[in-house]
Amino acid sequence: MNILVINGPNLNLLGVREPGVYGARSYADLVAYIEEVGAEMGVRVKVFQSNHEGAIVDAIQSALGHFGGIVINPAAYTHTSIAILDALKAVALPAVEVHLSDVTRREPFRRLSYAGMACEKTFVGKGFDGYRLAIEYLARRD
Ligand code: DQA
Repeated sequence: MNILVINGPNLNLLGVREPGVYGARSYADLVAYIEEVGAEMGVRVKVFQSNHEGAIVDAIQSALGHFGGIVINPAAYTHTSIAILDALKAVALPAVEVHLSDVTRREPFRRLSYAGMACEKTFVGKGFDGYRLAIEYLARRD
């Protein structure tokens, strides 16, 4: 199975941004972690990050016919982007939402997830392990 992992804005600053919320490990550490999980599980993973909503929409659209599932952490676009929700619905690939932090226990505006409305599962507050759980879910579902 091929899985596309999409990370949204500011996740490239992991390790630097709000370490009390997101941890001390860097974005490169996250990519290495996800690739390791993929190798362990015999799943091909491609990791994509962008700070731009349209680029994320393009990545979701281009997954059609190339990937069997999507893991997505849309970061702040989670709470604002109907375009990302519509793209996920348009390609209709099995998708899983991940958030490093527990968005249910932070500011109220983080409780609304548009992207989550097109996802089969959501993992929050588990740090890097959320990506493992998401990849495992998609691999088992296949
Ligand atoms: C996040 C949570 C979002 O609310 C926030 O805007 C992010 C990261 C997370 O992984 O915990 O940038 O998606």
